[in-house]
Amino acid sequence: MTRILPPTPETLAEAAQILRAGRLVAFPTETVYGLGCLGTSNAAVARVYDAKRRPAHNPLIMHVADLKAAMRIAHFGPRARHLASQAWPGPLTLVLPRRAEAGLSGLALAGLETVALRVPGHPVAQALLRAVAAPVAGPSANPSGRVSPTLAAHVAQDLAGRVDLVIDGGACPVGLESTVIDLTDENHPSLLRAGGMAREAVEAVIGAVATGTDAARPASPGQLASHYAPRLPVRLDAVDVSGDEALLAFGPAGPGGARVTLNLSKAGDLAEAARNLYAMMRALDESGASGIAVSPIPMTGLGAALNDRLRRAAAPRP
Ligand code: TXA
Ligand code: MG
Repeated sequence: MTRILPPTPETLAEAAQILRAGRLVAFPTETVYGLGCLGTSNAAVARVYDAKRRPAHNPLIMHVADLKAAMRIAHFGPRARHLASQAWPGPLTLVLPRRAEAGLSGLALAGLETVALRVPGHPVAQALLRAVAAPVAGPSANPSGRVSPTLAAHVAQDLAGRVDLVIDGGACPVGLESTVIDLTDENHPSLLRAGGMAREAVEAVIGAVATGTDAARPASPGQLASHYAPRLPVRLDAVDVSGDEALLAFGPAGPGGARVTLNLSKAGDLAEAARNLYAMMRALDESGASGIAVSPIPMTGLGAALNDRLRRAAAPRP
């Protein structure tokens, strides 16, 4: 049985105990719910891959409470330190050379010499990480390839019986996964995944960031073409809609006539749209429609991450 509990001090103490014993706890972050396990234990990490049915070549993000803890597990150059000090805690993940002596699970790193690190800003995640006092490996708490959870109820639906405890921290305030920046080479930062911190905001701190990895280094293994997928087919940039489709609208003026319509943000606010995206995709998936049509969304700011997720949701399924 999967228990869902509010984030009381007792729950957090118990959650820390469960994690330290090598078991799984789902917890809220400002981006999406994470499926946490002890990042130093191969046995615990194996449970996460198993619960998510996640391919083992896709490494996990390590969550820690602050920059000081992060510096114990990875090598930070001046640029990485500068960006981390400005953006953490927050929806940003940095890929950096790992410190061998940190004792991280090799399984969680998928054998790479780098580690993806994040300091989440959500108060419940912060309290949990401080109570555990060890790195917590945590992918999004959904079956691999499916829509990420932004509510505790999503986790309970998707991973029932596969997670020991879900801490209910309410709706995730950002709603999209963290932005992943590769700073393995300080002189060539690159954006591996658009996310909750807009690229413009990253570039305001460290200057220009390349897109994707250069050919010399492996791409982020998690950037699969089909991902974040609901069950129904997804059609992008829809300017009209048929009567058996569901419409995921954006902005004040969308086409009428859909079987059911949900609006990501009537005001055309990208942060509001990011907060709503996954919950609305889930709701439309259950609507009985034949497919989901999505209104065009601008590419600026968080729009880049929104469009990235929607493109993957619409990609041909494996
Ligand atoms: O917002 C988030 O980042 C959420 C919350 C729970 O923290 N976590 C999350 O984790 O989205 P996950 O596992 O679903 O996505 C992690 C991404 C994947 O695309 C993975 O391939 C990439 O980070 N990644 C992890 N380690 C990496 C590494 N060493 N080098 C390059 N990419 C890495
Ligand atoms: Mg994920």
